[in-house]
Amino acid sequence: MKIAILPGDGIGTEIMAEAVKVLAVLDLKFETETALVGGAAYEAHGHPLPEGTLNLAKAADAVLFGAVGDWKYDKLERQFRPEQAILGLRKHLGLFANFRPAICYEQLTHASSLKPELVAGLDILIIRELTGDIYFGQPRGRRVAIDGHFPGAEEAFDTMRYSKPEIERIAHVAFQAARRRNKKVTSVDKANVLETFQFWKDVVTEVHAQYPDVALEHMYVDNAAMQLVKAPKAFDVVVTGNMFGDILSDEAAMLTGSIGMLPSASLDKSNKGLYEPSHGSAPDIAGKGVANPLATILSAAMMLRYTLNQPEAADRIESAVKAVLSAGLRTGDIWSEGTQRVGTRAMGDAVVAALSGKTITTITKG
Ligand code: IPM
Ligand code: MG
Repeated sequence: MKIAILPGDGIGTEIMAEAVKVLAVLDLKFETETALVGGAAYEAHGHPLPEGTLNLAKAADAVLFGAVGDWKYDKLERQFRPEQAILGLRKHLGLFANFRPAICYEQLTHASSLKPELVAGLDILIIRELTGDIYFGQPRGRRVAIDGHFPGAEEAFDTMRYSKPEIERIAHVAFQAARRRNKKVTSVDKANVLETFQFWKDVVTEVHAQYPDVALEHMYVDNAAMQLVKAPKAFDVVVTGNMFGDILSDEAAMLTGSIGMLPSASLDKSNKGLYEPSHGSAPDIAGKGVANPLATILSAAMMLRYTLNQPEAADRIESAVKAVLSAGLRTGDIWSEGTQRVGTRAMGDAVVAALSGKTITTITKG
């Protein structure tokens, strides 16, 4: 087994170091190879997703990804911006199914901006289609308008589109995931306005016929955004398109107190995957040793479970993370009165200690 390690930019390198440390104590047989991606790759090779990095990702059994992006690249031509690396990996590896769990850990119920009773025990799964929709739809670009409200004016346009097989395969993924959970799927659309999402709704309904044991509800995206903060526990699996999924998954993440806790998986049709924390590169705190490495560590656990067939090792990591939280250790993003503030490295060390069965008492500085 080979894991491609792509730390990326900003806090990416710091959080990845902790995840690699955790993987190393598990006593599993795998090889790792590290490569540059995002802004770091652009600086070194003039492209955010150099061929060597892409080939490594393709050849590996799984990819563990940190984060990419920095404001300093905002002025670059789009094709050279760090975000193109993750979009390119999704496209070239065919990673169409994005799993974004939003789990509120018991120990962090009070870190949520919502009332504790609304989020206590929250465990929902957002499944976002990741290689279609307005993100990848062609044509797109800038031109002079020939119609619309201002003919002759400069305009920009993107194309929202979904083919039937694209919707079918993500619907299957969602229904199958729901079968392993609480057997409910909420399909989020904008069928009242958009042709693409009326089609989405029709196709999801058709696929549902094969899953009579799973309940299906349809919800408009604006209402879903509202229900997520009103009664988030009413959801189980949410399935939606690329654009709506981008927005709703950030919203859902925040219900749990910190996006710094949430892992994600992006899978292809044979469960090969890229695993990354749901948060970004946080350039404002990069290099300070204060970032929360738990989302990346939990992403490594997801990788062991979904792609590398090591569910026990995944369980061990997840239990170790809970043990560390129960011991009261917190990075700044999840810190609250009465808990102990620690840095990135100390948090990683504590997870390693918990994995080795040590009581978490001695804390490394930094
Ligand atoms: C995400 C991010 C990406 C997206 C960006 C970095 C391109 O926001 O993974 O949610 O929009 O998909
Ligand atoms: Mg996003």
